[in-house]
Amino acid sequence: MVSSPSASVICAFHPSACAAAEFERAFAEHLGARHAVAVSSCTAALHLAYLAAGVGPGDEVIVPAMTFAATAAAVVYCGATPVFADILGPHDLSLDPEDVARRITPATKAVTVVHFAGYPAPVHRLRELCDAHGLALIEDAAHSPAADVDGRKLGTFGLAGAFSFFSNKVLACGEGGLLSTDDDDVAALARRLRSQGMTSGSWSRFTGETDSYDVVGLGYNYRLDEPRSALLLSRLGRLGSEVERRRELTRAYRAKLSDVAGVGLPYADDAVASSTCYVMPVVIEDAPRRDDVRRRLKERGVQTSVFYPAVHEFTAYQARYGRPSLPHSEFIARSEITLPLYADMDERAQDRVVDGLAEALA
Ligand SMILES: Cc1ncc(COP(=O)(O)O)c(C=O)c1O
Repeated sequence: MVSSPSASVICAFHPSACAAAEFERAFAEHLGARHAVAVSSCTAALHLAYLAAGVGPGDEVIVPAMTFAATAAAVVYCGATPVFADILGPHDLSLDPEDVARRITPATKAVTVVHFAGYPAPVHRLRELCDAHGLALIEDAAHSPAADVDGRKLGTFGLAGAFSFFSNKVLACGEGGLLSTDDDDVAALARRLRSQGMTSGSWSRFTGETDSYDVVGLGYNYRLDEPRSALLLSRLGRLGSEVERRRELTRAYRAKLSDVAGVGLPYADDAVASSTCYVMPVVIEDAPRRDDVRRRLKERGVQTSVFYPAVHEFTAYQARYGRPSLPHSEFIARSEITLPLYADMDERAQDRVVDGLAEALA
């Protein structure tokens, strides 16, 4: 527990508790990381991670094209250039380390890996590559708050990890995020930048640790608020069982879908055990039929989405950075369907999805 001043002290204002500090302590312990800095979104965490890596104008950061736009947008916030790399293929939607290696230039400052849908990307190989070239490895762990490689949690392999607690995520509070790091300087910088560049926050003034502050650089309002922190703290306790349930549902989906012709399943069956199973991606092998299949599922009351349109193909990115050829990402952008998956999904709902997909493809 974080201590608070004695009851006889009359405070200038009275934060009722410090759930954010409690949540940070609990999440750092859960990850096995030295520091967890709670922020207002994963996008904010990525921005702070890039700044901590020294990313600035003239620098390049290699990012996967197959991700949410935020991974690349936060590079642009720093005045740097996102360089898009391809994924391994339809069997594994992770960043391809060999394609990353081909895109390293003297301007490269960092590489960002996304653990797509919560499945671990080849972090050891990427870490080796980054170490060999003196680059920072940043993990966009938005999908993977409880997955590991060889017993080590995702989000702890690079200079910093960035997590999302947005409403649809595995651990959710509405809008929220977190930066993890083992580096004391990165943590100190992230704490300062999340709160206007101030050298101390309201809580340390409330507890009497400090009684004034300086502003030592430009900062942001990237704080995570108390109600959301309290919600995350209470939900963290059931994260393990919810992820286990997602894995069961994913295994059941994979068994049922193995009989449906024309549907490809990324990742091997045994990868499920080390994923958070954030979403259930499937690949429609005859890609031109994808949108029609989605429409038919919608008619049956089954909502789907696409993870993801490729970022390098978005208007804003093409206009600024051209359009590299990234065949695997482009194929997935045109053929992928994300099926419904949530921890309290029941078997009947899952059967409706599978039957709907089989009928749409028949
Ligand atoms: C891979 C990835 N990175 C970053 C983000 C951004 O997260 P947030 O909405 O918390 O900023 C998301 C959100 O969906 C995501 O999927």
